[in-house]
Amino acid sequence: MVDDFQKLVKDCFVLISLTQDLVIHSNYHHGLRCAYLAEKIGEELIPDEKDILFFAGLLHDIGAQGGAFHLIHFPDLKTQMINDGIREHPYNTTHLIRMFPFLFEGQHRIADYILHHHEWWKGIGYPRQLREEQIPLGARILRAADAFDIYSRSGKDRNEIIPENALHLLKSNGEIDPVIYKILSNLCKSENFLYEYRVIENIFYSHYEKKKIKFLTSELDSNLVYEYIGYVIESKLGASSPGHIYADVLYATQIATALGLSSQEVKDIKIASYLHDLGKLAIPSEIIEKPALLTEKEWEIVRAHASLTIELLESVPAFKKFSFAGYHHERWDGKGYPQGLKEDEIPLGARIICIADALDAMTSRRPYRPTLTFQEALIEIEKNSGTQFDPHIVPKVLEIYR
Ligand SMILES: [Fe+2]
Ligand SMILES: [Fe+2]
Ligand SMILES: [Fe+2]
Ligand SMILES: [Fe+2]
Repeated sequence: MVDDFQKLVKDCFVLISLTQDLVIHSNYHHGLRCAYLAEKIGEELIPDEKDILFFAGLLHDIGAQGGAFHLIHFPDLKTQMINDGIREHPYNTTHLIRMFPFLFEGQHRIADYILHHHEWWKGIGYPRQLREEQIPLGARILRAADAFDIYSRSGKDRNEIIPENALHLLKSNGEIDPVIYKILSNLCKSENFLYEYRVIENIFYSHYEKKKIKFLTSELDSNLVYEYIGYVIESKLGASSPGHIYADVLYATQIATALGLSSQEVKDIKIASYLHDLGKLAIPSEIIEKPALLTEKEWEIVRAHASLTIELLESVPAFKKFSFAGYHHERWDGKGYPQGLKEDEIPLGARIICIADALDAMTSRRPYRPTLTFQEALIEIEKNSGTQFDPHIVPKVLEIYR
């Protein structure tokens, strides 16, 4: 039981890290690589804290915005400083680390290191322009890991990793602690290091398995882990659709219960509702928050969130079984996305979340269309029964809400 919980929390960290790194068509695995790098450097400088540094590296950017704002596109300090979303991300990430519902050993250190992970050795970084030894050593290690990964990929193709580029730049720009620079340049002499660094997505899990999180609380409730992921998503999408995730959870759980599903099925659908829009974090926020109707091209990008959700959930073991959440935009008549499944081909949970999603969308405030009352929304659901929505579920929905 404790072991399962341990796995769940670790996979929750990986899921959030991967989500942050996801850009349409690509995942840079920046968090995974920074975890690996921070631990490697930590082994030399603070061996007692190498696991803490590993988790700090994994999570260091989770408060940043997704999509077009992926940090690896902003290697230049000046550009980072004038972009609100980027300048604030050390605070946002620190907040998310402290909000985690279970206290664990090293949590406060991880938060502290992440808060200062953009401070530069020569004192021109952010948020506080600390310099040299004023910057906590763990934060200096994170800065080095972060910068090394970003500059290694400063060539034309961001997926190509050229460590020499990073070493060349970091040698003279005053960004990282010179002691850490030496460690990095030594690491780059090791074939094994370079190999593992390049193929991180293949070696990460075997490495990760050995890591342990030591919880400081005895009541370990897995529901709170899923709620936390919902909170992380909500904290990023809240500006465009406040409360959407929680509304979906509420309606989907009510509908699943009313349909007489088993308590395990209801529980799974509830969890899937927390996760259903995960892929939206990879959509540029200027599209998500656009206060007008979207162009066809923008719609195409928004629609990608469904397949991204499936892809993300399927790539992390503890979340695989909830990947059905990503089918919540399929339609009963087969005209939905991402796969154009129809009728019973669509997982039951997704058919339920689809109605919950529509109920909240219609009754919420959107700048480009009027907000319907709950009763008006039910009329729409009824009208679209058998085309958009499962005609076996709609009568139940009308029964419980009318
Ligand atoms: Fe960062
Ligand atoms: Fe980063
Ligand atoms: Fe969606
Ligand atoms: Fe949604």
